[in-house]
Amino acid sequence: MRVGMIGAGMFGDSSIARFHDAGAEVVSVCDVVPDRARASAEKYGIAHFSDKVSELLARDDIDLVHVAVPPNHLYEVVSATIAAGKNVLSEKPLTTSAQDARKLFEEATAAGVVHAVDHEMRYDPLHCHVRNLVREGFIGRPRVFSVRDFQRYARDQRYPTYYATWTAFREAGGGVGQQHLSHTLDLAQSIVGWLKPETAVGHSVTYMHQRPVLDPSVTPVALFGLGDQAPTTGLADVNGDDVATVSGLTSTGVVLHVVSGWTVHHPTGLTWELYGDEGTLTLNSAGELYGARHDQEVQRIVAPPELALPHGPSLLEQSGLGVLEGQCVGFMFEALAQNLARTTSGASTEHVYCTFDEALVTRTVLDSLAQSVITGE
Ligand SMILES: NC(=O)c1ccc[n+]([C@@H]2O[C@H](COP(=O)([O-])OP(=O)(O)OC[C@H]3O[C@@H](n4cnc5c(N)ncnc54)[C@H](O)[C@@H]3O)[C@@H](O)[C@H]2O)c1
Repeated sequence: MRVGMIGAGMFGDSSIARFHDAGAEVVSVCDVVPDRARASAEKYGIAHFSDKVSELLARDDIDLVHVAVPPNHLYEVVSATIAAGKNVLSEKPLTTSAQDARKLFEEATAAGVVHAVDHEMRYDPLHCHVRNLVREGFIGRPRVFSVRDFQRYARDQRYPTYYATWTAFREAGGGVGQQHLSHTLDLAQSIVGWLKPETAVGHSVTYMHQRPVLDPSVTPVALFGLGDQAPTTGLADVNGDDVATVSGLTSTGVVLHVVSGWTVHHPTGLTWELYGDEGTLTLNSAGELYGARHDQEVQRIVAPPELALPHGPSLLEQSGLGVLEGQCVGFMFEALAQNLARTTSGASTEHVYCTFDEALVTRTVLDSLAQSVITGE
């Protein structure tokens, strides 16, 4: 698969390495900041780079475009990508409004292109295994799925989310709800079905109202190497949420509750309980999956080896602290890239990835969250 990368910031740049590891080739990279496109091209030996999206989209040697720009720029770039007839992997969340997400779904469907959103947590083998177990009826009919994800990214100076970058502003698609809960909400729905948005209630709370402004000469990519050395120039008021919760009913009648926070001091990562009318599955903060049916004793469950990620077993099992710690996310991204390679080449229609219509449900729920903004003390 030949890939065009739009957006050479923190995530786009690292995704190039992941595509290469997955056996794909990134043939062109574009960023509105020319130095970023050039830096990524030099780093990975990519022959073509540009600061113009139209130049990348005009190429006829691209099978898939990965759009890794901030969410408030996704609509314009993904729409242009579809108009150019290219298969597209959009970053998450899909735009900053359900209205725009719906337009993209309609445009992609009309153009007949492959459309995917980068919710790579679906590819963790433990989650693949759980999805299969639920489909096979291990817990009977699912009744309650309660998911928690507590991280410290927005307290950690190694991450852009610590600073007053776009990730700290709601309008740009920042805050824990849009940046983080969107992943866990997608994951949960991919296992137990899609929320009826009209049943969703939630809260979105901002506790940290100011964050350090990053010196403009420091790109988020460089930030990873700088940590607490990153030069800052004062504090800025921010409005991104630090805690977000959603509860609702899925179309199959499951009570789904998801809560995410990203400013806790002692993260427990991703943990959850899934109860059905015939059994139970739970994931603890050590990344261990347990389950039982009826009167059986609860036992540890391990994903079958054939579900292993390209570089080994489940990341949940490896880290215990959730799947988004730095490079961890990369292994699942590789599995996603390989799945996209199979679908864009026509070798298979089977896919695990999130499609635009599914992302639209998540975006609609996130929109309703935005109406319940609370400013914590
Ligand atoms: N799937 C995941 O796990 C995951 C993790 C982190 C970030 N993301 C997503 O990746 C995207 C990028 O995040 P990031 O942390 O790399 O941000 P970033 O700010 O580090 O990089 C974004 C880059 O996009 C460029 N850009 C902005 N508008 C553009 C346009 N119209 N055309 C071309 N380039 C443009 C910017 O110059 C910048 O270099 C976001 O949508 C974010 O939500 C996803």
